[in-house]
Amino acid sequence: MSDRPRVLSLVQPTANSLHLGNYLGALRQWVPLQDEFETFYGVADLHALTVENEPAALTEKTLRAAAQLIAGGVDPDRSTVFVQSHVPEHTQLTWVLSCMTGFGQASRMTQFKDKSSRLGADAANVGLFLYPVLMAADILLYQAERVPVGEDQRQHLELTRDLAGRFNARYGETFVVPEPHILASVGKIMDLTDPTAKMSKTGSPPNGIIELLDPDKANTKKIKSAVTDSDRVITFDEQAKPGVANLLRILSALTGESIESLVAGFEGKGYGDLKGAVADAVVAFAGPFRERTFALMGERTELEKILAAGAERARDVAAGTVRQVYRTIGLLPPG
Ligand code: TRP
Repeated sequence: MSDRPRVLSLVQPTANSLHLGNYLGALRQWVPLQDEFETFYGVADLHALTVENEPAALTEKTLRAAAQLIAGGVDPDRSTVFVQSHVPEHTQLTWVLSCMTGFGQASRMTQFKDKSSRLGADAANVGLFLYPVLMAADILLYQAERVPVGEDQRQHLELTRDLAGRFNARYGETFVVPEPHILASVGKIMDLTDPTAKMSKTGSPPNGIIELLDPDKANTKKIKSAVTDSDRVITFDEQAKPGVANLLRILSALTGESIESLVAGFEGKGYGDLKGAVADAVVAFAGPFRERTFALMGERTELEKILAAGAERARDVAAGTVRQVYRTIGLLPPG
């Protein structure tokens, strides 16, 4: 227990490997928050059910996501690391909140609109519609003050703030209204084959994404064939030279060296040198990350123990919130 303000964020277990954009844009920025906040970090496996999954693959991805959080610097001694479905209060609070969410408001969520129009009315399930309400429950259950997420989650956070405010106004102060903590745009890591599009699990071709758990050779090859331009000079110009800008951003994020100083260092050198340096930096990070992840996967009982302890701690907090909410709204307490 701690009286530090709380932070919560979850990742969906949608891939076998985190990609470089996920790591730089999210996970890496979660790590330092552990110094100042009481942190709850976990795997949103219930959110993943909004698309169809092969059951064994979902289990594997969930374990891998948890292992990668830890390998990337989330420390189970300082953070509550848990799997969403291990804490049944997430679904309990979702129901209550869904009964306070306007149908119209939920229909206006842009991610829902995009995904459901892509899938069509029948392939898009009701879970997809409730997805933002489940996310609000994730956050409000823990009375989180800050929620580190990417820009694409801003509207879901607005809904969460709205629901917390509405509940508090109707029933009295119950929920902390969370502040978005929009992650810095070093997360603007672009597709290597199309540097005008974000590096993304669903949108990018395999050659456009650096999967952190892939062998070093594969990633080096992708970086060496990254799209640049027909010029030769290394300057940082997002409009005219988005490919080179992306490589410089990646190198700067991984080495901590400023873009200006990198550009100065590459004076008189060519794109091959830049790509070589990026590949070295990626390998220097991904190699140890991959080893830590696979070591954790190899100690499955240990990993499960960590997640069981996390779930217990999470339930301590979450069950208190649900009890209070149920009482507040007038559900008859069990005798
Ligand atoms: N929807 C988030 C995403 O896709 C994942 C998520 C689920 C989340 N629940 C959350 C993020 C609660 C922050 C807080 O990135």
